[in-house]
Amino acid sequence: MEKYTKLVLDHFEHPRNVGEVKGYNAFAMSANKKSLCGDTIKLTLRIENNIIKDIKFQTLGCVASMAASSMLTSLAMNKTVDEALKITDIDVVKALGGMPAQKLLCSNFAASVLHQAIQDYMKK
Ligand code: FES
Repeated sequence: MEKYTKLVLDHFEHPRNVGEVKGYNAFAMSANKKSLCGDTIKLTLRIENNIIKDIKFQTLGCVASMAASSMLTSLAMNKTVDEALKITDIDVVKALGGMPAQKLLCSNFAASVLHQAIQDYMKK
């Protein structure tokens, strides 16, 4: 059985950007329909002049789901909206140094929630 990378465990034990952004202007909350447990990710963002100035997550899920959420927010911070829309689940897993194959259903979800949050912003 594959193991988690050190970076996955670091993001799980010391998650970056946890919580809710005060005065957020983009929001998404979604449950993962592909995983067995229905893990849920909530993202709040403050976007100014098309740049993600702040992003925070609250995730109910396993190590893989938490680490992917944490890494996603790190990757998206200070990116333009267009750059953030190009972030994929593969980018997140690569940035974490990989993910055990049996946990990819959990990790391959966070980017889609980011894209939903940006669409929420664009609708306003
Ligand atoms: Fe549910 Fe991974 S098993 S999020």
